[in-house]
Amino acid sequence: MGISFLGLGYALPAQVLSNFDLEKMVDTSDEWITTRTGIKERRISKEESLTDLSYRASLQALNRAGVSPEEIDAIILATLTPDLGFPASACLLQARLGANRAYALDISAACSGFLYGLELAGGLLASGRTKKVLLVGAERLSQIVDWTDRSTCVLFGDGAGAVVLSSEGEGELLSSVLRSDGSLWEILYAERCGYIKMKGKELFKIAVRAMAEVCEEALQKAGLSVEDVDLVVPHQANIRIIQALAERLNLPMEKVYVNIHKYGNTSAASIPIALCEAYEEGKLKRGDVVLMTAMGGGLTWGAGLIRF
Ligand code: UT7
Repeated sequence: MGISFLGLGYALPAQVLSNFDLEKMVDTSDEWITTRTGIKERRISKEESLTDLSYRASLQALNRAGVSPEEIDAIILATLTPDLGFPASACLLQARLGANRAYALDISAACSGFLYGLELAGGLLASGRTKKVLLVGAERLSQIVDWTDRSTCVLFGDGAGAVVLSSEGEGELLSSVLRSDGSLWEILYAERCGYIKMKGKELFKIAVRAMAEVCEEALQKAGLSVEDVDLVVPHQANIRIIQALAERLNLPMEKVYVNIHKYGNTSAASIPIALCEAYEEGKLKRGDVVLMTAMGGGLTWGAGLIRF
């Protein structure tokens, strides 16, 4: 399926919250957080709204794509932390951008939001009725973190990533495998207006197995093997999950993009931020085969394989 990433952008709040800052807030240590999660610091947005972050990321992606907001047919925004109950954050973004021809909707698929969005965008583009999609993953998880709970507050951060997608160009969505299991919702959730609650140990085990399975299936569907993959961009939840996944897939860590030390877990924003950084650093090049995978609340999980 033709799907080209015409431009990528990301936005992070300026405020850095380090592990040492957290040591002053809860009974934790830089040593524990680093060894158990790989996180050294995360970004926290006090002033910028979700729309502000999404807008900055989108503007960068559009500028880099050489696409004007009026050319966008659809805006899909994946988030757990919208600015308002309704309307959708995508509508606020649409207005801010002046994307006057676009229909706009949010999707709620937690950390898998970007991959769910990519599959939906692929379908819309394949229909031929939608030519260009702005796909955004954005979170202000700091809003729903209990800053007195050391088991969760050290893990999450804020940020946004955006991509401009088109059916025209060299890129391809080679395969996509998405799953959900709502019977496991209590492993990771927040009540309405409540804080994130997570059974971390249980989720850890499920995440490694489930992501490995969908990655293998995505490769199989595309008729490719692990050796054909140039870069893996996993959801950044825990460096130990990423390492265990790489081991299961028989992948050298050199092929796996990691930025968790800088931003922690930014849920739906994590994959697009990582993709954009990898591109800026020259680790992601045109024509590369890229495997993305995520797991999160829902439970939802999936893998997307693209030729970039
Ligand atoms: O984005 C969605 C996907 N998210 C995930 O997949 C997250 C999956 N889970 C994880 O990443 C890990 O389970 C955590 C990082 C959340 C926790 O790591 P763990 O190695 O599973 O630790 P644990 O929960 O088993 O806790 C071990 C110990 C406990 O103390 P005791 O009972 O052994 O005395 C905790 O109370 O570490 C303690 N602990 C902490 N200590 C210092 C928990 N949080 C902290 C902390 N600082 N922040």
